Amino acid sequence: MHVQVFFRWLCVALGLLLAGCASHNYGDEQYRLRMATAGKDIMWVPSKLEIVHKMLEAAKVAPGDIVYDLGSGDGIIPLEAAKRYGVRSVGIEYNPDLVALAQRNAKRADLERLVTFKRGDNFVEDFSEATVVTLYLGESLNAKLMPRLLKMRPGTRVLSNVFRIESWIPDQEIRASTGDMAYLWIVPAAIEGRWQFSGFPDAKQVSMEVIQKKQIFDANIFFDGRRVARIEDARIRASELDLQFSHAGKTYTLRGQVQGSRFSGLLNNNPKTPVTGQLAP
Ligand SMILES: C[S@@+](CC[C@H](N)C(=O)[O-])C[C@H]1O[C@@H](n2cnc3c(N)ncnc32)[C@H](O)[C@@H]1O
Repeated sequence: MHVQVFFRWLCVALGLLLAGCASHNYGDEQYRLRMATAGKDIMWVPSKLEIVHKMLEAAKVAPGDIVYDLGSGDGIIPLEAAKRYGVRSVGIEYNPDLVALAQRNAKRADLERLVTFKRGDNFVEDFSEATVVTLYLGESLNAKLMPRLLKMRPGTRVLSNVFRIESWIPDQEIRASTGDMAYLWIVPAAIEGRWQFSGFPDAKQVSMEVIQKKQIFDANIFFDGRRVARIEDARIRASELDLQFSHAGKTYTLRGQVQGSRFSGLLNNNPKTPVTGQLAP
């Protein structure tokens, strides 16, 4: 384990010890669970209820969402998601005793209809149907999952208790009253490459070259082959593209939706100037 990550987990464990949580009884009569029970890639430490509620709130969980918790422990996150929002939720957990405990917890809460716990490895199981993914795994495991997370459907909300995801700047920082932190990221549409637009009134050919770093991008805008503007540190939120540039004393605002390799939106918010775009293959 990376030294920095080890110390972060040590702080978590010391914090829990000071809060008296380490001596609590977890689990049930069939499986007494000790704090910091060893796990495949990371030990079991439970998320606290307040931060779980704040994470689900920040994700704006709503009907139709499917919440996946990777490394679901005793099931607290999928169970709270189902209980508070009535949504389907799934926990993936490697330790079979924890899977069985979480299933019993679901039964006791009468949530079996909505919640499923699967015995499996986070790095093997398919969680691509999720619209919300929660993590409490540590920075290095988060980083290992990042390529898969970034390939999820644009708009998927990813939340991590305590730990960040390497170079991916959070869209929101979540703070509990205890000072505990969690983070939210929204998976952005992939827009890197050369876009060709139709519908601009001031040029025959309008194109845009995009360099994307997660939800942040730089772009050069070309009118009839000539670079007319540069945009730096713009953001794409899920599939919503919203950019502004100026050229020859005019300001252009382009707003719309990216769907795969296509864009459709409006120039200057005007329904009379619809713009479509195509990303070169
Ligand atoms: C810090 S606990 C978090 C538990 C729960 N998500 C929560 O927030 O209370 C991490 C969990 O991940 C599980 N785990 C570790 N490696 C795993 C892997 N490769 N696949 C699935 N689960 C794993 C551990 O058994 C443990 O239950």
